[in-house]
Amino acid sequence: MKQPKEIRPAEGKLGILLPGMGAVGTTFIAGCLLARKGLAAPVGSLTQMGTIRVGKRTDLKMPKVNEFLPLAGLNDLVFGGWDLFEDSAYTAAKTAAVLSDAHIEAVKDELEAIRPMKAVFFPEYVRRLRGEHIKTNPSKAALVEEVREDIRRFKKENGLSRCVAVWCGSTESHREPGPVHQSLKALEAGLEANDPLISPSMIYAIACIKEGVGFANGAPNLTVDIPAIWELAREHGVPLSGKDFKTGQTLMKTIIAPGLRARFLGIRGWFSTNILGNRDGEVLDDPENFKSKEVSKLGVLETILHPDKHPELYGDMYHKVRIEYYPPRGDEKEGWDNIDIFGWLGYPMQMKIDFLCRDSILAAPIVLDLALFMDLAQRAGMSGMQEWLSFYFKSPMSAPGLYPENDLFVQLMKLKNMLRWMKGEELITHLGHEYYD
Ligand SMILES: NC(=O)c1ccc[n+]([C@@H]2O[C@H](COP(=O)([O-])OP(=O)(O)OC[C@H]3O[C@@H](n4cnc5c(N)ncnc54)[C@H](O)[C@@H]3O)[C@@H](O)[C@H]2O)c1
Repeated sequence: MKQPKEIRPAEGKLGILLPGMGAVGTTFIAGCLLARKGLAAPVGSLTQMGTIRVGKRTDLKMPKVNEFLPLAGLNDLVFGGWDLFEDSAYTAAKTAAVLSDAHIEAVKDELEAIRPMKAVFFPEYVRRLRGEHIKTNPSKAALVEEVREDIRRFKKENGLSRCVAVWCGSTESHREPGPVHQSLKALEAGLEANDPLISPSMIYAIACIKEGVGFANGAPNLTVDIPAIWELAREHGVPLSGKDFKTGQTLMKTIIAPGLRARFLGIRGWFSTNILGNRDGEVLDDPENFKSKEVSKLGVLETILHPDKHPELYGDMYHKVRIEYYPPRGDEKEGWDNIDIFGWLGYPMQMKIDFLCRDSILAAPIVLDLALFMDLAQRAGMSGMQEWLSFYFKSPMSAPGLYPENDLFVQLMKLKNMLRWMKGEELITHLGHEYYD
């Protein structure tokens, strides 16, 4: 056994701050409240349901993840956040219509008490939304200070020992990284000068980092995926992760593609389309916002298939992703994939996937796991980009010069080995079999 990492205990209460309290945010909060009352199970959450093999296979040691590591418990979580609509989490959960009335009513009092703080919102980043519950200070630098003040007040009022933030806000419109994102100095100057390339999500992230609050980004916007913010996070010893929760279609894609690649089956084309009718779908109906999502969704196959290494199998692959806003479906998205593959001697085959999923039901456990792992990382003194959390993201952040890892099984192995490493246990390289335990 190696030296375990020193991890501060999970003492006191952990605040989970969500910029954006819509469908995902409220489904996550309500789910945690229901789970802690024993009224529903936190299905899909590795921290709550997962196990981890420790030692040799013959040792038969497989503790639960949350017994293996000092994670915050569900009873120690306190929820808060910001939104441009002043609805309580109860009203927002009703509007999102993801959960049944029976589930929402069972935790009504707790949900009603959770009221969003005023949002930092610049309409040019989300043109489809208009809300009144927003901060009005015209200075971006001053907005950072207002959010910092919110965090300090939230911590004090709730008697919290620490906080972590997970962006569950709408997808911001696509922006290429600019000079203001390249260094902390440029970013600080940009805040003073109200640089238009500083988005609302960046304002929250900067404020969180300065308050020692780890920040995970659930949407595809740049947010914390810029050198200036990495520098700030390192300076303050704060962990970061992102981007874009890996749910639905991309989850399936990163399960199927590694399998096809493992058998060296060729792919000629992969056409993915979705219909989606929630507010997220409405926001993504704007081409600028969809562009952020498209970039995030398109990247995954490349790093799994490595067409440069296998041009004869994947070199000519046509990959297309579409999202159509279709209100009747609400949160109950349907995602179709048509995959044109070929095998021995080039003979063609087809695969069709029709995933009738529920977006927020798949995203909520990711929010929980990210919050708990980010808090763990913070207590273990791990700052900056947390690549081991790639498992949860469609477009994982990676160090400059490295390609992101998108294969779900490699991501899981990486995550579990990081947990073993933290505890000073031997890493498991699976030279035997048992690929992912
Ligand atoms: N559900 C999934 O499967 C999934 C997967 C990957 C990523 N995401 C991303 O998660 C995010 C949330 O999804 P959702 O379905 O809950 O969307 P939603 O529209 O229901 O909720 C987003 C909320 O964010 C608020 N918001 C927007 N800008 C804000 C700001 N600047 N400050 C504070 N609040 C702000 C909106 O008012 C809204 O209430 C989206 O960006 C979505 O793309 C979701």
